[in-house]
Amino acid sequence: MSKKLVAYFSASGVTKAVAERLAKSAGADLFEIKPKTPYSEADLDWTNKNSRSFVETNSPDCRPKIANTIANMDEYNTIFLGFPIWWYVAPKIINTFVESYDFSDKTVIPFATSGGSKMGKTCEVLKDLCPNANWEKGKMMNRVSDKELKDWLSQY
Ligand SMILES: Cc1cc2nc3c(=O)[nH]c(=O)nc-3n(C[C@H](O)[C@H](O)[C@H](O)COP(=O)(O)O)c2cc1C
Repeated sequence: MSKKLVAYFSASGVTKAVAERLAKSAGADLFEIKPKTPYSEADLDWTNKNSRSFVETNSPDCRPKIANTIANMDEYNTIFLGFPIWWYVAPKIINTFVESYDFSDKTVIPFATSGGSKMGKTCEVLKDLCPNANWEKGKMMNRVSDKELKDWLSQY
């Protein structure tokens, strides 16, 4: 059977809210990618070059641990993957996620929220890490209306 999943990471709730709307609209299951060590406010301080998020972003091999797993990944063939944009790309925990499962024959559709940045090279980076998946074009979801969401979803 063909099942859909919305998997997302959200540090401050913006992507979470979009993921919940998306899951409801798509009739998809919802999975929150939870960091083993949650991000504190200080960790998220993008003005501080010593902050955890800054250091992780600038460490190519960094793969923050994920606290939870999807036991029934085999059942899903369409996965919407959501995250905030951090310094123009996905947070490194998304790299951990795409390397944690076998996405062969699965369609992965990235979506993101940001303060204004677009996807940039985000999807290319993720594709390189997980070439077996069938990657669809990513979508920015800043201030997306219910109608826009529904129209976009109708192709999946
Ligand atoms: C560490 C960090 C880096 C960020 N880098 C960018 C960026 O490069 N471009 C941008 O438009 N917004 C950036 N933002 C803003 C977030 O993308 C935006 O607030 C997002 O909606 C937060 O989603 P969340 O609440 O699901 O974590 C950054 C935020 C943080 C915490």
